[in-house]
Amino acid sequence: MDYQGLIAQAIEAKQSAYAPYSHFRVGAALLTKSGKIYSGCNVENVSFSATNCAERTAVYKAVSEGEREFAAIAVNGDNGDYLPPCGVCRQVLAEFCDMETFEVVLANSEEDYRIVTLDRLLPGAFLVKNLKAGDVSDV
Ligand code: THU
Repeated sequence: MDYQGLIAQAIEAKQSAYAPYSHFRVGAALLTKSGKIYSGCNVENVSFSATNCAERTAVYKAVSEGEREFAAIAVNGDNGDYLPPCGVCRQVLAEFCDMETFEVVLANSEEDYRIVTLDRLLPGAFLVKNLKAGDVSDV
């Protein structure tokens, strides 16, 4: 899979980051299985815990548009290196993405990136299958 286009959109999304407190911008681009891309940036808040990471912004945008099937996400931050998604974002990705096949593209640039599957980032995850049968609905 060629992820250069996806990475380009993550880098572009980073330009919209609202990060007046950390001054650390992050962009993400989420690829659906049908080939659409939803981008996101981090959106901070003066009440720091209300901050939303770039990855979750992208996931929530996509889900709110009716998408639930995802193939990959590219992430690019201001750290000048591969940026691993935070634990909360890993858990949110695990809600919708297949652990063994969903690819997280840690992008330093369009040319310099690493791909890891979600199961390697969140081993032993608490997943919907761990809920008792009957507790899960399609809604
Ligand atoms: N951040 C992300 O957007 N994604 C990550 O995976 C790590 C952290 C944001 C949250 C906050 O706005 C800033 O980076 C510093 O933590």
